[in-house]
Amino acid sequence: MNPEQRFSERAKGREGSEIRRLFKMSMKPGIISFAGGMPDPGSFPSKKAAEVREAGLRERGEILLQYGAARGDDRLIEVVLERMQQKGVEAGPRNVLITSGAQQGLDLCGKIFSDPGDVLLVESPTFIGALGAFRNYRAELAGVPMEADGIHLERLKGSLEALRDRGIAPKFLYTMPNFQNPSGITMSREKRRRLLEIAEAYDFLIVEDDAYSDLWLEGSAEDVRPIKALDTNGRVIYLGSFSKIVSPGIRLGWALGREDFIDRFEMAKQMMDVCPSPLIQAMVVGLSEDGFLERHIAELRGIYRSRRDAMLTALMRYMPDGVFWTKPKGGFYIWVTLPEGMDAVALLPKALEKNVAYVIGMAFHADKSGRNTFRISFCHETEEIIEEGIRRLGEAIAEAIR
Ligand SMILES: Cc1ncc(COP(=O)(O)O)c(C=O)c1O
Repeated sequence: MNPEQRFSERAKGREGSEIRRLFKMSMKPGIISFAGGMPDPGSFPSKKAAEVREAGLRERGEILLQYGAARGDDRLIEVVLERMQQKGVEAGPRNVLITSGAQQGLDLCGKIFSDPGDVLLVESPTFIGALGAFRNYRAELAGVPMEADGIHLERLKGSLEALRDRGIAPKFLYTMPNFQNPSGITMSREKRRRLLEIAEAYDFLIVEDDAYSDLWLEGSAEDVRPIKALDTNGRVIYLGSFSKIVSPGIRLGWALGREDFIDRFEMAKQMMDVCPSPLIQAMVVGLSEDGFLERHIAELRGIYRSRRDAMLTALMRYMPDGVFWTKPKGGFYIWVTLPEGMDAVALLPKALEKNVAYVIGMAFHADKSGRNTFRISFCHETEEIIEEGIRRLGEAIAEAIR
């Protein structure tokens, strides 16, 4: 039997890539990894989670071990609505769907809004998981470059005009306004407002992925108000996640938007995995009570702030001239740009020889550009290890320049 003949057209397009091979190389044991986006495992609220889960099972086991509502647990939806209200977003229970992480929200956006060949706009660079999810629906992805204050609006308008000349209207634009993965860039308030105006003028939707906004490391929550808070016309589908503020292993996030969109999302999700786990949802409700989650997030900010600072200090100290990097105000990531003509793909084996790993920038670009860039994350290693890893990386780059 030839398995190739069995695959759907969609599955055929998803064969193993060079990028996946490089990822695998970066997973070897003993390596200092700046590659992943995994939160610090020591920060997980395991003890409290065990307590609330136990109490839940004792008191409501017959409900928590049963199938639940496809839309998600009413009490968790209330928690989400309260958190969203604090971010300036007014919504009701019918506007929310609990998802299996923000990743499922991305998949649902691809599934519900895009047909094969449709054009979707993405930031360049953008989140690898979104590229994968949208490619799965065989969308054509058009990248719009980033500036220090977010997506380049003039270039966006240029792309929209060029598409209009070809009779094409993109279905949506996917953006991460806060502490973007991979660049660490935050979109200015002015740009958020203007982006919405452009979406109105050219009539496309905005998918806003806000996985990191609670992890602001300077300023305040006011600085990271989502685009959704400005949206009076139902143009924005907001995706949130508990992965970075509770833990990724619980697989909980949410999509928030117009009722008619969320109804469609719910129907599609029900066919994928029936309902989110009632037990895990109840656990997160328990963790949200009495201000525990807020205190926990404040602690996380402390951990990630000192790691970010350690990484920025080490970069200053060890990077050769001609290397530039972003200075994120939150989230997990720093984006490094090597001198023009240098190749982060060719550099990776040299970095791995020194037991330090990053993710090549090319992986984050829809058009595979960005060969002289890479992403490093400060979320996973301690300050001392970060300093040592950046020292080795600086050495590898200096040797490559020579
Ligand atoms: C920007 C962004 N969106 C979505 C996700 C997926 O997160 P989740 O665990 O909520 O599915 C991630 C994970 O790293 C992310 O960085």
